[in-house]
Amino acid sequence: MSAQYCRIRKKVYEKFSHNAEDLKRFNHMEEVVKMALYLKDRYGEDKFDIDYEKIKIAGILHDYTKNMSFEEAVEYLTKYLNNDGLEEAKKAPSVIHSITAYYLVQEELGIADEEILKAILHHTTGSPNMSPLEELIFVSDAVELTRTYEGVEEIRKRVYEDFYKGMLYMIEQTLKHLKEKGWYINPKTIETYEYYKNMIENKNKKQGENNGIY
Ligand SMILES: [Fe+2]
Ligand SMILES: [Fe+2]
Repeated sequence: MSAQYCRIRKKVYEKFSHNAEDLKRFNHMEEVVKMALYLKDRYGEDKFDIDYEKIKIAGILHDYTKNMSFEEAVEYLTKYLNNDGLEEAKKAPSVIHSITAYYLVQEELGIADEEILKAILHHTTGSPNMSPLEELIFVSDAVELTRTYEGVEEIRKRVYEDFYKGMLYMIEQTLKHLKEKGWYINPKTIETYEYYKNMIENKNKKQGENNGIY
């Protein structure tokens, strides 16, 4: 383990080692690191030309503020967001920890790498045109091996078969779940879905042209 990752992992452990619930969260962050490294190696350098260190740091930090309460999170964000931004953030309590983590890792750990910061910020909703690191953390968060929600095996299987198709299926399932529950759907998730759906369709079309189908 490199010195920087080692230092950061220790800090995260100190923050998440005081009770069973937090220890479970720490374990999840480690599992995200493992899954992200596995997917990098599975798809190789062509798809994920990313430094191992960056993957590990983004993975271990993505839920850095998961143990902050909703009230604390809103209070903390008044420092960074204007009223509109704050109101938007309050609409999606399950997403707010990615915004607080984006700021707090800069303050407490001096993280300045834009790619790592964006991977943390977008790990819940995704974002159109993500960097490979953002995509990797977004997907690994949902399919790491200790996840047990309904349908996870199918999502994981598809991610292993074809990264982008698997990711699109994963977002589709999320949207379906949110609609069924009648919960708030973050516009960013829909934008992400549309962006990657178009990307896959265009890629298929191009492949068809190359094969002389069109
Ligand atoms: Fe999270
Ligand atoms: Fe997570």
